[in-house]
Amino acid sequence: MQIQRTQVAIIGGGPAGLLLGQLLHKAGIEAILIERQSPDYVLSRIRAGVLEQVSMDLLDEAGVGARMHREGLVHGGFDMLFKGERHRIDMQALTGGQQVMVYGQTEVTRDLMDARQAAGLPTIYDAANVTVHDFDTDRPRVRYETTGPNGTEQHEIACDFIAGCDGFHGVCRASVPRSAIREYEKVYPFGWLGVLADTPPVHHELIYVNSPRGFALCSQRSHTRSRYYLQVPLTDKVENWSDEAFWDELRLRLDPAARAQLVTGPSIEKSIAPLRSFVTEPMRFGRMFLAGDAAHIVPPTGAKGLNLAASDVKYLSGAFIEFYRDKTAAGIDAYSERCLRRVWRAERFSWWFTSLMHRFPDNGEIGQKLQEAELDYIVHSEAGSRSVAENYVGLPLNFGE
Ligand code: APR
Ligand code: PHB
Repeated sequence: MQIQRTQVAIIGGGPAGLLLGQLLHKAGIEAILIERQSPDYVLSRIRAGVLEQVSMDLLDEAGVGARMHREGLVHGGFDMLFKGERHRIDMQALTGGQQVMVYGQTEVTRDLMDARQAAGLPTIYDAANVTVHDFDTDRPRVRYETTGPNGTEQHEIACDFIAGCDGFHGVCRASVPRSAIREYEKVYPFGWLGVLADTPPVHHELIYVNSPRGFALCSQRSHTRSRYYLQVPLTDKVENWSDEAFWDELRLRLDPAARAQLVTGPSIEKSIAPLRSFVTEPMRFGRMFLAGDAAHIVPPTGAKGLNLAASDVKYLSGAFIEFYRDKTAAGIDAYSERCLRRVWRAERFSWWFTSLMHRFPDNGEIGQKLQEAELDYIVHSEAGSRSVAENYVGLPLNFGE
């Protein structure tokens, strides 16, 4: 058994774990990051790509914002399409100048991985059988296995804190006794079929579509790469969706002007993702802290997942920095409550936006009519539009304080 010692053991090398590692490094706090997959695998996952100002600021603070500012697309509004007509939500005008950055999560992850490597920070990829121990004491430990030339090698990390950034299927949340944790969950009765294609986006901003055939989203990664989604039944199989069938169905959900603009091409990625709302309470268990998808999942409508992971990490890095520099546990003690307040606000918005835009099998035709009436209200009422806009750009970190 090889034993290492560090201040913070970070479990999970997705955006949450990597961003935390970078912020701790800037503050002179030691951390080891343990990821169960390979770097290539981590980079192969395609996820949403809309960053709130709070997230952009944090990437800058972590010193990894340069490429985002160079290559990301700044958006001041988006369209909502219903009853065959498009209406623009002018986020910028409605929120006193706020905008969002369209920049793929894969690129955020790549920038963070490059920065971690450049700084020579200790990272263990392909770690097997990761387990967390004694987080209810002052001496937590993490164990994992690697494969060396002589077979399996056992490792142990002794640390002050464990940061559980290991996503929804991770080991950290699963290691907490059931009596110490409360979980809230809603699974939606449909999925999102996503296609990535090297074709110019149909529109310069995003289009969220409520159609009687189901939800659709026209998004993008760059001026030459589009990302589209269709609401599909959970029983659909991705292999039964040809590119042709995807484009045909998307066309049927668009308005005539967008349909005329749509450029199709071969998909470079195609997958079906389920939609879920999920929250864990609390987010701290002694000396182990959950952050990002390990603690909560939002349905993707509104793209809050990465932004919530970023705000958790902001609070957690701040708490660790206060602990080591100022010798106070105040931030650590406040962590769970501060995060959860923001998490529930984003959960509410994501659930509401999902409910507004999708066809629900049990809601019938009246469901469609009621959604259209609500959308009509939203786009024609300044109060309605502003409510969507201020949630979409992200509520301030000190909201309600
Ligand atoms: N040991 C080590 N690493 C693990 C383990 C484990 N037992 N289990 C999971 N992991 C790793 C996964 O392989 C993954 O790389 O933890 C990482 C978690 O990363 P993400 O799932 O990307 O979660 P997070 O970093 O919280 O990012 C949140 O990702 O899912 C999106 O919408 C979400 O945008 C949000 C963002
Ligand atoms: C995406 O580009 O993948 C995306 C954008 C906005 C969303 C969800 C996903 O609301």
